[in-house]
Amino acid sequence: MQERLFTPGPVEIPHRVREVLARPIVHHRTEEFKKAFLEVRELFKRLVDSTSENFVFFASSGTGAMESAILNFFEEGDKVLVINGGKFGERWLKLAQHWRLNPVEYKLEWGKSADPQRVEELLGQNPDCKGVLYQISETSTGAYHPYKEISKVCHERGILSVADAITAMGVYHIRPEEEYIDVLIGGSQKALLLPPGLSVLWFSQRAKESLKDRAFYFSIKKELSKQMEGQTAWTPAISLILALKESLSMLLEEGMDKVERRHTSVALATRRAVESLGFKVFPEKPSVSLTVFELPDAEKVRRDLIRLGIRTAGGQDHLKGRVIRISHMGVSPMDGLLAVGMLEVALKRNAFDVELGSGVRAYSQSLIESKVW
Ligand SMILES: Cc1ncc(COP(=O)(O)O)c(C=O)c1O
Repeated sequence: MQERLFTPGPVEIPHRVREVLARPIVHHRTEEFKKAFLEVRELFKRLVDSTSENFVFFASSGTGAMESAILNFFEEGDKVLVINGGKFGERWLKLAQHWRLNPVEYKLEWGKSADPQRVEELLGQNPDCKGVLYQISETSTGAYHPYKEISKVCHERGILSVADAITAMGVYHIRPEEEYIDVLIGGSQKALLLPPGLSVLWFSQRAKESLKDRAFYFSIKKELSKQMEGQTAWTPAISLILALKESLSMLLEEGMDKVERRHTSVALATRRAVESLGFKVFPEKPSVSLTVFELPDAEKVRRDLIRLGIRTAGGQDHLKGRVIRISHMGVSPMDGLLAVGMLEVALKRNAFDVELGSGVRAYSQSLIESKVW
C-alpha cells in the first residue's frame, strides 16, 4: 500500500513533478541548465509578485537558508528580536546565539501568536535592534504569526523583517515587496511540492545594503552574482531546480490567490471536523498550512493511522503524545476529506467515543458553505 503523506514536510509530490524528477540528470555547467534555471528564476519572481533579482537558491534544507540570513545580514553582537513561540522560533534563537548575535527573546507560550503591539513595545525598549526574526507559520504548534503587521512595525523603524516562511511559501500569497518583508525564506519539501534539499532566500533592497561577507558556502553575494546568470557558486541541487520549474508552474497556473483560498478552505474544514469529533484545535490563531489538535493517546492514534496508510506528524518536545499535526500543504479538498475520514476510523478503532461520519459531515458542510464544492 502506498502510504499517503499528510505530514508538514515532506509532502506528497504531484505526478507532474515526479515525472521531471525521473528524467536523466543534466550537467549544471551547460546551456540547457542555465536556460532552465533562468526560467525558474522568472517563475519565482511571479510567485512573490516581484521583479527583483534579489533572491538565491541553496542546496540545503530550510535551516541552511535561516543560517544564511543570520550570517549575511547581521554581525557578531548585533541585537535582534526573536519571536519564539515553538520549535522553529527556538531555532532562530539557537542560530542567533550560535553566531554570537545578541538576541532579545519575545517568548510565547506554545500555541500563541505574536502580538504586533508587543513587538513594537519590545523594539521601543531595545531601540538598537537591527531586525526581527520570526516564523509566518510555526509548524510545531500550528500557530500563525501576523507577518504583515510585524513587517510594518519593522519598516516604520527601519529594521529588517526576517520571515521564516518555510511552511508558508506556496500556501499564502506572500508579496514581500508590498508587505515590507526584508528576508523571506522557503524550503522545497513543504508547499513548494518537492523532495527536501533546496532552500530559497529572497531579500529586499534595504537588506541588500546590509549584506556582509561572513559566510562561505552560504554567501549571498557569491551566489547572487552567479545565479543572476543562470549559474551557481557550488554544485546546485540540479534535479530539484528542474522540478521546481514544474511545481512553480502548477502553483502559478492555479494562481496564488486561489492557492491560498484552497489551503484556507481545507484548513477551516479540517478544524471544523476535529472540533465536531470533540477535540480542541491547539493554536489560538491557526495557520492554514496545517491543523494541530489535542487528543489523549495521540501517539496511539497516529500509529494506527500509519497502519491505515495515512502518515501525520505527532507533537514535538512537550507536545509529544498530546497532539496530532495534519498538513494541508499541497492538499486538495478531496484529499483533505480522506485524511478526516481515516482519522475517524483510527479513533473508532482506538475506542474513542466518536460517531463515524460526523467529522466527514462537518468537513463537507464547511467546503459546501465556502462554495469550494
Ligand atoms: C517553520 C519551519 N522553519 C524551519 C524548519 C526547518 O527546515 P528544515 O528541516 O528544512 O531545515 C521547518 C521544518 O519543518 C519549519 O517548519
